[in-house]
Amino acid sequence: MKNIVILISGGGSNMQALVRHARQHEWGKRLGAQVCAVLSNKADAAGLAWAAQNGLATAVVDHKAHASRDAFDAALMAEIDRLGGKGRPDGKPDLVVLAGFMRILTPGFVAHYSGRMVNIHPSLLPAFPGLNTHQRAIDMGCRFAGATVHRVTAELDHGDILAQAVVPVLPDDTAQTLAARVLTQEHLMYPKAVENLLKLNT
Ligand code: GRF
Repeated sequence: MKNIVILISGGGSNMQALVRHARQHEWGKRLGAQVCAVLSNKADAAGLAWAAQNGLATAVVDHKAHASRDAFDAALMAEIDRLGGKGRPDGKPDLVVLAGFMRILTPGFVAHYSGRMVNIHPSLLPAFPGLNTHQRAIDMGCRFAGATVHRVTAELDHGDILAQAVVPVLPDDTAQTLAARVLTQEHLMYPKAVENLLKLNT
């Protein structure tokens, strides 16, 4: 069975969409894949409680408890591999899915999961990497905004684009209304993009 580990920092609505889709579309039977654990850098991430209630292994690796980015990433890596690497030939999960995980990862961490880590970013990359994407799209007068699923590389919000979803920017949009419109599309796009990746790798 292929193991998928999801990393979150907040509400985890994308993580929930992924888990629901995986169960509804029987990834276990059809693709030989399962979401096996959800990890967060924040103990109070709302998505953790949901994951635990839905029978998933959960863990917290608090970035504030580590003196450096390297130390945090080493601890996170150990936890991901402990929960997702069991029974795998190389001791690592098959896929690490970042879903609103708000930490910048070190090149060593990215190299450890090279070719098997994806992220969703709330803009049409390569436009607007980084934070405050919706406000920046509004400020620039964009008529369209959206979200991108991409492979994770050492450069923030770069890496091959796997899928994109586009929504209109409406005249009276605020960052909040635009974010909500984009998020609805993220929930549809991310599970399908991950499913396609799993199919490709079989
Ligand atoms: C999403 O907009 C995602 O694109 C970005 O962070 C947000 C996470 O939302 N990376 P949620 O935690 O999945 O609800």
